[in-house]
Amino acid sequence: MVILGIETSCDETAAAIIEGKSVGTQNFAFGTRNFVSVRSNIVSSQIDIHRKYGGVVPEIAAREHVLNVLPVVNEALKKAHLTPRPLLARRGGARGRGIDAIAVTFGPGLITSLIVGIETAKVLSHVWGVPLIGINHIEGHIYANFVGEPKIKFPALILTVSGGHTMLVLMTGHGKYKIIGDTRDDAAGEAFDKAAKLLGIGYPGGPAVATEAAKFSNKSKILNLKSKIILPRPMINSGDYDFSFSGLKTALFYQLKKDKDWKKRIPEYCAEFQDAVVDVLVSKTIKAAKDFNVKTIMLSGGVSANQELRKQMKEKIGSQITNYQLQIPDLQYTTDNAVMVAAPGYFRALKKDFIAWEKIKVNPNLELE
Ligand code: KG4
Ligand code: ZN
Repeated sequence: MVILGIETSCDETAAAIIEGKSVGTQNFAFGTRNFVSVRSNIVSSQIDIHRKYGGVVPEIAAREHVLNVLPVVNEALKKAHLTPRPLLARRGGARGRGIDAIAVTFGPGLITSLIVGIETAKVLSHVWGVPLIGINHIEGHIYANFVGEPKIKFPALILTVSGGHTMLVLMTGHGKYKIIGDTRDDAAGEAFDKAAKLLGIGYPGGPAVATEAAKFSNKSKILNLKSKIILPRPMINSGDYDFSFSGLKTALFYQLKKDKDWKKRIPEYCAEFQDAVVDVLVSKTIKAAKDFNVKTIMLSGGVSANQELRKQMKEKIGSQITNYQLQIPDLQYTTDNAVMVAAPGYFRALKKDFIAWEKIKVNPNLELE
């Protein structure tokens, strides 16, 4: 089954073509082996445009999506050897040329950005005569883990960490989620972005903090140095699965205020900030994995691109939990893309979970459950 995915929920205009195959009995919760291969993956990032404002400007994002969405879809079709013009002209439409369904993000995200993707998907679905599937952006991040031939066993626990969300999700089968932990204020990615702003090291904050932190850890390894900066690990021993990162940013703000030389110690501040976030994320994930006795632990979302998080997760889970499987998405599918939209589209298409193009509606506050 061939799926076109479209993603425009924030500041990336993305389109992708994936091909899904199932082997075995079609039991949607357990049993079937599914293979998702990527035929094309096009992402047009607006980061350079928003950088000068220090964050995403919704009005500009939506305008850029309008300009980019069709060229990006066109490119995805071309890379997958599906030429769009004959698609429209021939009888049999897209199906005749091999597209079985269109999956599009309908929330959560910026309303005007989401509308661009949805309207595009609606028109293509109508004109090509192929079914439409609505995808939750968070579900998309989770399904970045299902690309290729992963051996994911349920129940699975997913740490979802992006610019807008920080959640621990229990997944008992395809499309079956329970949020067991959430952030009470800032998301992990948002915390990185705000810390980077305080330190004046650029946008987006996560990669900027990670780059600076690496400078300190490389130096500290050679010189056997330890950071003298101590930041809190908010809610690390709270006993539940919730997170809070706004106090960490405030703690950083006050430490910088007290330190006349902070500009000379940016790598050290970044290393400690990153360690604080990673310690909390890893500790809470391990607690939840043990308490719920899960078989697979997965990472998802833009912050899961963080190398220190990936490393700590592997090491600490390896030494503290037995009988588990850790699934980490390919780096290119951690930040926003459309493969992660097409992949759950495939699993939903297996269940014929389609929506009429007249009925799909944008939902900027869409919940996962
Ligand atoms: O998933 P994503 O692309 O968009 C949302 O759905 O929010 O995540 C973007 C977030 C940003 O806050 C960015 O700073 C963070 O992911 N991020 C990182 C890294 N790369 C991106 N955070 C930490 N380390 C990274 N390497
Ligand atoms: Zn995202």
